[in-house]
Amino acid sequence: MATQQRPFHLVVFGASGFTGQFVTEEVAREQVSPERTSHLPWAVAGRSREKLLRVLDRAAVKLGRPTLPSEVGIIICDITNPASLDEMAKQATVVLNCVGPYRFYGEPVIKACIENGTSCIDISGEPQFLELMYWKYHEKAAEKGIYIIGSSGFDSIPADLGVIYTRNKMNGTLTAVESFLTIHSGPEGLGLHDGTWKSAVYGFGDKSNLKKLRNESDMKPVPIVGPKLKRRWPISYCRELNSYSIPFLGADVSVVKRTQRYLHENLEQSPVQYAAYVTVGGITSVIKLMFAGLFFLFFVRFGIGRQLLIKFPWLFSFGYFSKQGPTQKQIDASSFTMTFFGQGFSQDVSPVKNKPNIRICTQVKGPEAGYVATPIAMVQAAMTLLNDVSDLPKAGGVFTPGAAFCRTKLIDRLNERGIEFSVISSTEV
Ligand SMILES: NC(=O)c1ccc[n+]([C@@H]2O[C@H](COP(=O)([O-])OP(=O)(O)OC[C@H]3O[C@@H](n4cnc5c(N)ncnc54)[C@H](OP(=O)(O)O)[C@@H]3O)[C@@H](O)[C@H]2O)c1
Repeated sequence: MATQQRPFHLVVFGASGFTGQFVTEEVAREQVSPERTSHLPWAVAGRSREKLLRVLDRAAVKLGRPTLPSEVGIIICDITNPASLDEMAKQATVVLNCVGPYRFYGEPVIKACIENGTSCIDISGEPQFLELMYWKYHEKAAEKGIYIIGSSGFDSIPADLGVIYTRNKMNGTLTAVESFLTIHSGPEGLGLHDGTWKSAVYGFGDKSNLKKLRNESDMKPVPIVGPKLKRRWPISYCRELNSYSIPFLGADVSVVKRTQRYLHENLEQSPVQYAAYVTVGGITSVIKLMFAGLFFLFFVRFGIGRQLLIKFPWLFSFGYFSKQGPTQKQIDASSFTMTFFGQGFSQDVSPVKNKPNIRICTQVKGPEAGYVATPIAMVQAAMTLLNDVSDLPKAGGVFTPGAAFCRTKLIDRLNERGIEFSVISSTEV
């Protein structure tokens, strides 16, 4: 990349956060990966030197690398001090931004990166922030030839790249995909840190502004190829997975749709319709989840409700989200599987007025979603940005992961690091 002469190829901003500490560890692993001929110059950034040092010390112990803290730069930087953001951006080729909720903290980082010709990757799962940043900064980022790539964590690299992988593996034209996320946990159950909880509370609490943003953007609809993909009922049974499922309310649908628009408008690919679900097991889990979901959706509508949700994450999320985050045991015992059911047409059958005649099932499997898969995805997105330059979109801009990386080796890199993409079956019907 044009900016590679800077002191640090990667800077992890927010390294002292719950997710940031795991991203820091992941960059430290990448720094000495066997494929590298030289050490990766990188730094951690945040508002407290003590906290950053503690994170590096912990990573050094965990990875058995006592010299680690002396090999990593430290940059002191606060969102409320724009000059400090400029200083950080000037020293980096790519900033890995782990400071969220992004709706509050994300924009100044993007601004500083664009002004200083630095690319930026974040792990936001907040559609409103992601879509707004596209409208506000795409042209400016393109002028500077830099890449701003959001949603590069578990939200939404498996879904976005999973649809692209499914399309690449289909011998014909893929027209529609439904994905089903299954989260597996060990005997101690699941856990998430309240950073993600806060992002969700504020995001759902402000849904009307997301609607407004979409209405104002007034975009030409992407054509529907093949039969229209029908939405399932709020609770439906997935026969193939032997489980009930509910719609997945994260950022995946927003991100995949934006990618498909990009691929259609810029690379003349046939757009794929997409819907995302999460499996919830048997009927008892459905009832519990419905109850929790209705409760949550009611509370986020009111200021006082949001305050209560933020103050008592553990109570209101029935033990899933907490201020201390999941334990290492919970993390180690968790994993995810995302199954994609695609349909389409072989080369000799026209999608007009015919029924789809090919079905394909693919999977993306990986370790714990929030704090293992997310750092792997984010760091490999950054390595792709640094290394697969000629396969990125020609001009810079604000991109989804699928738009930025569809022609790169990101899927191969993820496969090598334990986020595995595979074809389960492909049949002509
Ligand atoms: N895409 C995914 O799948 C995925 C997975 C995990 C997390 N996430 C997202 O990642 C974000 C972070 O989550 P988390 O659980 O790690 O939250 P967290 O532990 O609260 O971390 C927030 C970080 O932001 C920093 N920060 C806050 N205010 C700042 C300021 N004014 N200047 C500089 N730094 C500031 C904090 O620094 P201090 O340490 O100094 O307080 C901390 O490092 C959330 O938006 C979450 O949704 C996404």
